[in-house]
Amino acid sequence: MSESLGLRARRRLARAIYTPPPPPAPPRDPELVALDRLEREWKGGPVRDERINEHLSLMLDKAGVTGGQVLEIGGRGYPRGQVFGDAFTYRNLDLVDTGEGTIVGDITGCPEIADETFDVVLSVDVFEHIDRPWLAGEEMVRILKPGGLVYTSTLFSWRYHPCPIDFWRYTPEALAFLMTGTDTIDQGFDLTERRRDVRKKAAEDPMRIDELGGWRENVRVFHAGVKPDRP
Ligand SMILES: C[S@@+](CC[C@H](N)C(=O)[O-])C[C@H]1O[C@@H](n2cnc3c(N)ncnc32)[C@H](O)[C@@H]1O
Repeated sequence: MSESLGLRARRRLARAIYTPPPPPAPPRDPELVALDRLEREWKGGPVRDERINEHLSLMLDKAGVTGGQVLEIGGRGYPRGQVFGDAFTYRNLDLVDTGEGTIVGDITGCPEIADETFDVVLSVDVFEHIDRPWLAGEEMVRILKPGGLVYTSTLFSWRYHPCPIDFWRYTPEALAFLMTGTDTIDQGFDLTERRRDVRKKAAEDPMRIDELGGWRENVRVFHAGVKPDRP
């Protein structure tokens, strides 16, 4: 008798502490699963500055430029710091004084800089903000020494981002054309961050976040050219 009461008590206790598992989640839409995976893929690659700095180093080697004077256009924050060692002197040219010994000027017209002054002239994420890029290209080639490297990294596709104004997007051929007077040693696209979900918080951003998230077609573009030596 007492044994069967004990059994009933044990059953009541088991019922009290047993929590049934949650019902299985409905199968996820395979397209959304793929979207999630693609969206995270870029995080596995090197970050923007690492990628650009590595490619710029390769281009310096390919051009055979081992030292001399560097001019970066819009190089705020000196993100190219690790590329140029003691053999180089570095200057930054910008519309505004960004506090790193900046030459304040406009690359679309900088007669204050003499012809053939620099061994390297470069810009990263600046060409989309230049109002007259055809003049900038001419000036960059003019102030480059023969044998020097001109390097440009900018955007084929990215969300709208004024700094101070967002004007243009480019193909590699457009960059090569703008750098007329140099021999192209490399040009192309960088798709590393293509499906990154880029969101801007500002309410005035015309690329509104919708059910698919933010802007997801991010393509970088680059060009490297060498100014031929005079015959
Ligand atoms: C997006 S920021 C550059 C970011 C930086 N190069 C980097 O890699 O993180 C663009 C810079 O280009 C400068 N800029 C825009 N138009 C210019 C021009 N015509 N001449 C010189 N600098 C310019 C802006 O003032 C700004 O500092």
